[in-house]
Amino acid sequence: MAKTVKYQYPLRSHNTFGLDVKAEQFITYDTVEELVSILAELRGSGKRMLQMGGGSNLLFTKDFSGVILHSQIKFLEYVSQDSQEILVRVGSGVVWDDFCAEMAQKNYYGCENLSYIPGEVGASAVQNIGAYGVEVESIIREVETIEVATGKPSVFQAAECEYGYRDSIFKHRLQGQYIVTAVVFCLSATPQVHLNYGQLQELREREEVPTAQEIREAVIAIRKMKLPEPAELGSAGSFFKNPVVPVEKYQELAAAYQEVPHYVVSPEQIKIPAAWLIEQCGWKGKSHGGAAVYEKQPLIIVNQHQATPQDIMELASLIQQSVQKKFQIAIQPEVNYI
Ligand code: EPU
Repeated sequence: MAKTVKYQYPLRSHNTFGLDVKAEQFITYDTVEELVSILAELRGSGKRMLQMGGGSNLLFTKDFSGVILHSQIKFLEYVSQDSQEILVRVGSGVVWDDFCAEMAQKNYYGCENLSYIPGEVGASAVQNIGAYGVEVESIIREVETIEVATGKPSVFQAAECEYGYRDSIFKHRLQGQYIVTAVVFCLSATPQVHLNYGQLQELREREEVPTAQEIREAVIAIRKMKLPEPAELGSAGSFFKNPVVPVEKYQELAAAYQEVPHYVVSPEQIKIPAAWLIEQCGWKGKSHGGAAVYEKQPLIIVNQHQATPQDIMELASLIQQSVQKKFQIAIQPEVNYI
C-alpha cells in the first residue's frame, strides 16, 4: 500500500473514544519519502495539519477541518546486539504492543512494563508513555523525525527530547513542527526489572528473576482487570494526569483524610493519584450524557453510550471543578484536545 488520500473521512475507528467525527482529509503514508512529498504538496496551502497515531490519547472536540496524516511506516530492524544491549529501530506506524510482544518473546528487557498500552511507536516517543514504574524515555536512544517546514530529516537524541511525566519537547516547544518517523530503542539482554508497583509484588517475591515475558503477562492481566478494552468501551486511558503538589499540601490532606495514597517525587513534591481525588468527590461510576466515569478506575472517562465530544468535555470540566473545590488542586487533562 502506498499513499492514500480520503475526504470527509469518518474517524470513529481512529480514536479509541469511538467518537463519531470526521476529518476533512485523511492521508496515510508508508515511507519517509512519501511523507516528505505530502508535506511539500501541503506546504503553503494554509491547511491545518495533524499527525496522529492510534488515536488513543486524543479527544476530538468536533470534526477536524484540515488534514490528518497517519504513518504506516512499519519496520523493525536490529541495529546492533551484544551480550548486554540490543539497539532496535522501529517505524513510527508499528503498533506499540506488537513491538513489546516481540521484545518480550526474545526476553529483551525494557518495555515489558509498558505492555498492552494502546497506540503506536511514533506517539510513544511524543507522549513519553508510562506504566507500572517505567516510562518509555528510559529505553529511547534516538527519535528520527522530519521537519514539517522543510521536509528535512532530523534526529533527536533522547537527552534532547526534554522528557518529563507524559511530556516531551514535541508536545511543547516544537509542537507540530516535527513528525516522528522512527524510534531507536535500547533494550537490555540481562534482567533489569521494575517490580515495585503493588500488583507486581507476586513476581517480586519469587526466587528466580522473572522473564520479560512473565512480567509482560502479569502487566497485561492487571491492565485487563483495571482498564476498559477500547474495542468494548471507548476511552483514552487516563483522562487526567496525576497532580504533583507541594509537600505542605500533602500534609494538609494527610491530616484531614485517613491514608492519602501518594508517591514522593522529591523532598518538596508529592504526586497524588487523581483517581483518589476524583473518587473522594463521588464521581466513580457517575455519568453525564453518554459519557461516564469508569467504575473500576475513576481516572478514566468512558464513552458509555454514544457520547458526544461535548458530553466528555463537560464531564471532564465538572470533575476538574469539584476536585478544585474540595481539595484546591487543579487536575490537568492528559488527553490532548483537538
Ligand atoms: N485509586 C483510587 N480509586 C480507584 C482506583 C485507584 O483511589 O478506584 C487510587 C489508589 O490509591 C491507587 C492509585 O489511585 O493506588 C493509583 O491507581 P493506579 O495504580 O490504577 O494508577 P494511576 O495513577 O491511576 C497511572 C497512569 C496509568 C498507568 C498506571 C499504572 C497516569 C495519568 N496514569 O494511573 O496510565 O497505567 O498508573 O502505572 O499517570 C494512561 O496514561 O493512559 C494510563 C492508563
